[in-house]
Amino acid sequence: MTRTAAPPAIELRGVSKHFRLESGEQVRAVDELSLTVPAGEFVCVLGPSGHGKSTILNLVAGFAEPSEGEILSAGKPVTGPGPDRGVVFQRDTLFLWRRVAENIAFGLRAKGLPKPERDEVVARYLRIIGMESYGRAWPKQLSGGMRRRVAIAAVFANEPEVLLMDEPFVGLDYARRATLHTVLLQLWERSRATVFFITHDVDEALALADRILVVVRGKIVMEERITQPRPRSVEDLGTAAVAELRTQILSLLELGAGSA
Ligand SMILES: Nc1ncnc2c1ncn2[C@@H]1O[C@H](COP(=O)(O)OP(=O)(O)OP(=O)(O)O)[C@@H](O)[C@H]1O
Ligand SMILES: [Mg+2]
Repeated sequence: MTRTAAPPAIELRGVSKHFRLESGEQVRAVDELSLTVPAGEFVCVLGPSGHGKSTILNLVAGFAEPSEGEILSAGKPVTGPGPDRGVVFQRDTLFLWRRVAENIAFGLRAKGLPKPERDEVVARYLRIIGMESYGRAWPKQLSGGMRRRVAIAAVFANEPEVLLMDEPFVGLDYARRATLHTVLLQLWERSRATVFFITHDVDEALALADRILVVVRGKIVMEERITQPRPRSVEDLGTAAVAELRTQILSLLELGAGSA
């Protein structure tokens, strides 16, 4: 019996995205970029501001169309947004007029899952994010970090194959971020979803990623695999090899920022 290998979760083939500004000038936000992300991989994307990271994510999410090239998700051309690709943005995306449990159950309800099963899923996710007693709370009664935990649980509850995260933890203090990293890794390890995670924080990328991509001027200028097992401790990340990689990435980011 022959077995066909599973198609990559995300594939970009020669993708460019151009924008025309009011002045008539053309911006090449993404420039002939090719990328293959196998199913289950955790990819972190770093890059200077304005160099195309969110544009790549929006193209994969199906919120925008490429000017050139092709984008595939699980081997199928992306023609628009879909439940197979969950998206988490840096802004809060909870429904403020729905309770925490209803926020987590929202996608499941849209899929037609009966209430007892929805309740079971919600209870499971509330447990994982350490918020068992908050199901009936309103989003405004939560801290910023708690709201983000709920937002991530709500996305994972839909069991997307691909999770697209655009700086989801920006603006949080170190301790809250560390908690969210633990929660995110727990959810990811249970689901084995593919994660495409944009961040400005090199240490966040080093803590989370299987592979780090650095994007400068719409192109991938560096690609590095991180093999240390997770959860990664400060000691793991303090090795000479990681320190060297960190320095390399930071200098690329500085160089790139200078060229914007
Ligand atoms: N809808 C749009 N119309 C016109 N130009 C756009 C649009 N979206 C993005 N751009 C331009 O494309 C380039 C890349 O933007 P993008 O948002 O992808 O950057 P980024 O790497 O995510 O930056 P940041 O780190 O600041 O979030 C920028 O020059 C931006 O002005
Ligand atoms: Mg962005």
